[in-house]
Amino acid sequence: MKRYTSYEEIPHAVLLDLQEKVEQSPYRQHFHVEGDMGYVNDPNGCCYYNGQYHLFHQWSPLNYAKQSWLQGWYHLVSDDLVKWERIGPAIIADTKYETHGSYSGSALVENDQILLFYTGNTRIENGGRVPYQLIATMGLEGEIIKEKEPTIIGFPKGYTAHFRDPKMWKSGSDYYAVIGAQRENLTGAVLLLHSTNGFEWEILGEVHTAYDDFGYMWECPNYIEFEEASVLIYCPQGLEAFNNQYQNIHQCGYMIGNKIDKENRLFSDKYDFQELDKGFDFYAAQVMEHEGKKIMFAWMGLPATNYPTEEFAYSGCLTMPRELILTDGKLYQKPLIAFENYAKERVNEELELSPGETFEEILSFNSRLQLTIKKSHNGKVTIDLLSDALRENYTRLTLDYKANKIILDREKSGVLISEEFGVTRQIYDELSDSVFLDIFIDRSSIEVFINDGECVASSRIFPKENQTFLFVDNEDGNSFLNIAVMDLII
Ligand code: FRU
Repeated sequence: MKRYTSYEEIPHAVLLDLQEKVEQSPYRQHFHVEGDMGYVNDPNGCCYYNGQYHLFHQWSPLNYAKQSWLQGWYHLVSDDLVKWERIGPAIIADTKYETHGSYSGSALVENDQILLFYTGNTRIENGGRVPYQLIATMGLEGEIIKEKEPTIIGFPKGYTAHFRDPKMWKSGSDYYAVIGAQRENLTGAVLLLHSTNGFEWEILGEVHTAYDDFGYMWECPNYIEFEEASVLIYCPQGLEAFNNQYQNIHQCGYMIGNKIDKENRLFSDKYDFQELDKGFDFYAAQVMEHEGKKIMFAWMGLPATNYPTEEFAYSGCLTMPRELILTDGKLYQKPLIAFENYAKERVNEELELSPGETFEEILSFNSRLQLTIKKSHNGKVTIDLLSDALRENYTRLTLDYKANKIILDREKSGVLISEEFGVTRQIYDELSDSVFLDIFIDRSSIEVFINDGECVASSRIFPKENQTFLFVDNEDGNSFLNIAVMDLII
């Protein structure tokens, strides 16, 4: 098969073969969005339209079929952002402006249709590329109509061909978008685009921030306005790790600032860049707005990273949607209330653990664990999630009161991945006497929400079938625990 192939050209036998491989995977997720096959990465075009939530994501169905590649958008819909109906491929790389992939982009609902703005990737001889910014619409029947010509061809002077991922919003009767870019001096930036009708766009220029030498490329920017301030999200690539920060291969984070000054293209950040998520696998976040709520999805994966599911012809999944709330200069991420509609409580206990005592319970591969821990000592509380009975394999959370931090350790989680980037993450560093952990466990991932979403850590893990135990150890004086375990039947 050739390197780039169109969706219609895929022989049925190839699809069947891939599906069979996927079915053999022990790691299929229960309630996270993943692909029927192939490679899933960024969430795209999230919006609310015609009474439902619409979500798209980057999808290369043939990624694990003889090296053939076809990158487009896959489409899902939902009534509540929790349970998803799979619709099928949406944007397909079938024009000369996206020969090498229909890359990431965003959506805006207008005039009874969804307006889609995305990047077409093309490769040219000598390994170079030419990006095109493309417009399409999707109507009530799900039909995609692409504008014949790109709205932006190539990239502006002073920048390289790494110019992609437009994320648009409307302000009054004007349309704006931020787009990821790389300067000629190989540093990352975000540029501001403008349109009066959503279809024809002009490049206004670079958005000035305090970070003018911060990674070699900024991918997937988002700009969101809250009442008190605004937030600029982006993914700087190639930052050096330091002091428990920037541990993953690439980062996804945000800055809080004043509303963007569009005339001077100034985003005056009030606080330093912060990572959105402290776990091992998180990238390319996209935020949608509906009824005043800001909902964020992300890819629970990273570029240039291998996952054990590849053996089964697929990889990648999205995070759960989270509501973003800005309070006192801090961005909180909260699990959606709608998850409660699918929760069946199995355990709800209050207990006191004395020194050396261990609490034991059974977990399922689709559970939610809520733990309030109050301590009266300065030692450690260790929580082993998805452990086997002998405690040889587990995903460990350590609340270290003396060092004032929470550590997530996946060294013994199961199949080990990306160990060259370390096997532990410091996911919290201001431990108070009472901590609330809200943990979502799926077959091959965990998302840990700390203190009502003040901090979140998302990670892929690949445990064996027999890793279904929970152990909580208490090291020192007494600890008081409130534990609820729910099965999520979605
Ligand atoms: C981020 C990214 C985007 C690009 C897309 C291609 O993960 O590299 O910049 O549009 O993925 O799949």
